[in-house]
Amino acid sequence: MSLLFSPYDLAGRAVRNRLWVAPMCQYSAVDGLPNDWHHVHLAQFASGGAGAVIAEATAVVPEGRISPDDTGLWNDAQRDAWAPIAAAIRARGALPGIQLAHAGRKASTWSPLTGNHGSVPQDAGGWTTVAPSAMAYEGFAEPVALDDAAIDRVVEAFATAAVRALAAGFEVLEVHAAHGYLLHQFLSPLSNLREDAYGGSLENRARLLLRIVEAVRAAATEAAVLVRFSASDWADGGWDAAQTATVAGWAAERGADLFDISSGGLVAHQRITTGPGYQVPLAAEVRRGGDVPVSAVGEITSGAQAEAVLQAGDADVILAGREWLRDPHFALRAATELGETDAGLWPPQYLRARPRA
Ligand SMILES: Cc1cc2nc3c(=O)[nH]c(=O)nc-3n(C[C@H](O)[C@H](O)[C@H](O)COP(=O)(O)O)c2cc1C
Repeated sequence: MSLLFSPYDLAGRAVRNRLWVAPMCQYSAVDGLPNDWHHVHLAQFASGGAGAVIAEATAVVPEGRISPDDTGLWNDAQRDAWAPIAAAIRARGALPGIQLAHAGRKASTWSPLTGNHGSVPQDAGGWTTVAPSAMAYEGFAEPVALDDAAIDRVVEAFATAAVRALAAGFEVLEVHAAHGYLLHQFLSPLSNLREDAYGGSLENRARLLLRIVEAVRAAATEAAVLVRFSASDWADGGWDAAQTATVAGWAAERGADLFDISSGGLVAHQRITTGPGYQVPLAAEVRRGGDVPVSAVGEITSGAQAEAVLQAGDADVILAGREWLRDPHFALRAATELGETDAGLWPPQYLRARPRA
């Protein structure tokens, strides 16, 4: 049996394999409510054999949305709209997950589906953004620096959203600390210029994330907690894999179960070279340096490639994004590619299409 299709023990949950769906914004919500699009979009990956399906960056407060069209979990109507989606994922054999997010200074931007770029003006439905420091992402509107009381409210909002996510039926809660959004803005010295308990030393820059991990863990004891990091800013003087490994270790002590290692997104002047598996070395560095379980993501598009990452000990789990959009049955295809003989991954309704060895 391949490693990719052997079960993974995620904090006591047996996940049927190690090929999961990465969170992907659909920019298709109204008032933060997921709808029929999100339902079909996410459920199809479970039919396609995913071990876990992590729903998109979902804002814990309205001002934390990347765009006005993001999903949310700041009210009970949103919780209720997510519930059938989580149930559909679980009914198809995958573990339902959701990414809890706050976009900070990168909030209130146009959805790419509109064809516009940059900040949404206030008179067009935009809002004032918040950040560790009053420093804009290049080209975006300037944010307001969060004070202590506002920071406490952010922690509370993550915990409340975690309770709603659990009530909606999600079993995996991923805290979004990557891609230049609020928690990454606190972690990186390039965006955090604070001189209080949340800025300066690594301990201080990590303080907000660690408070949130603790709060989510306490609010949703039955859930598995993941943290997504950008393990490099791809810019001089920025956040890096060594700092990620240290903070991942601290987050693990506070109850985080797995670390999803991505990169970039903090500054517009990042210098990033992409290619097949380009973030795998970062995942491997965090796994070894932090002695924590990690997932690797980024241009992993075949069963053989995913299996090689696991066999090398560079990651414990593989996440993919765009390959699932190209082929919603990516895991069924990868299983065939790796010669997996267990037909159980296939929905019975689809078995007549299963290739014979
Ligand atoms: C349409 C789309 C939406 C995305 N939205 C999110 C998101 O909501 N949260 C997140 O952390 N990453 C997001 N990403 C990044 C993916 O999760 C993934 O890390 C990235 O696409 C690299 O993996 P891939 O090469 O397998 O696509 C998005 C990517 C795409 C293509």
